[in-house]
Amino acid sequence: MSNAVGLSNAVDVSTAAGAPTIAQALAAARAQGLDRLDAQWLLGHVLGQTSAWLISHDEQPLAATDAHTYAALCRRRTDGEPLAYLVGQAGFHGLTLQVTPDVLVPRPDTETLVDWALDLLPTLPTPPQVADLGTGSGAIALAVAHRHPAAQVTATDLSPAALAVAQANARRLGLAPQWAEGAWWQALPAGARFHLVLSNPPYIAGADPHLPALRHEPQLALTPGGDGLDALRQIIAGAPAHLHPGGWLLLEHGWDQADAVAALLAEAGFGSIGHRLDLGGHARCTGGRREDGNKG
Ligand SMILES: C[S@@+](CC[C@H](N)C(=O)[O-])C[C@H]1O[C@@H](n2cnc3c(N)ncnc32)[C@H](O)[C@@H]1O
Repeated sequence: MSNAVGLSNAVDVSTAAGAPTIAQALAAARAQGLDRLDAQWLLGHVLGQTSAWLISHDEQPLAATDAHTYAALCRRRTDGEPLAYLVGQAGFHGLTLQVTPDVLVPRPDTETLVDWALDLLPTLPTPPQVADLGTGSGAIALAVAHRHPAAQVTATDLSPAALAVAQANARRLGLAPQWAEGAWWQALPAGARFHLVLSNPPYIAGADPHLPALRHEPQLALTPGGDGLDALRQIIAGAPAHLHPGGWLLLEHGWDQADAVAALLAEAGFGSIGHRLDLGGHARCTGGRREDGNKG
């Protein structure tokens, strides 16, 4: 590619023989293996411009400092750092959330869980009391609060740093869930009961070969160790005592864990057990309803 100026060279070029243009910088990033959209997002982030602006100004030279910053971000991206950490934000269910390495980058598949909750909410008593266990960036709790303002949402996490990110997102979005820090149900006040509990807990098995590729995200958010089901087991075991009769527990889990989660729900006395598919067609969410006879 004739205009593929090396990014590290580009910094030298900008101080000596002239700066690389936007087109050259983007081409150099592509030549280093960056995805086209990632390369545009990162340069747009550095320049504070949209991708459309970059394309219409692609002959414009970069300032040396911008070329240097861009080169550093491209190196981090090729090292596997999530784009969301590099630009400091991620889209989730129509919201823009700020993310830091203290929280999991919210995934599009988790929107499946939110969609299921939004389908159920109109059938629940008003105001519905909703909990999001292990809220991370606040993705699930804030999407539900945004789309169903009547809901009284409580969001928990074991990680104070994650809760701080979620709280900052809530302030920015003008939403005001209740917050609780601690391990799963222990975070909540004694006697707290909900009509709907949602959770996307850590569920990757401790020896899963995909974990090293996720090394930039918090291990606490990714894996409970062992077979990956421990957090799901704890949440399901404690759920009947924290749900109103007829209340629902909806869980995200691994693509191959649907049967195991359904069996755990049945064992805990849940009825109406069902699944929702993710964007790839896998049964990614499993949920059930506390039967009236199950007093918790
Ligand atoms: C897979 S992440 C989900 C984050 C967010 N809900 C989302 O969907 O993007 C799991 C979250 O559970 C939290 N977590 C891990 N162990 C926990 C525990 N024992 N009690 C409460 N939260 C826990 C992690 O800190 C992390 O924020």
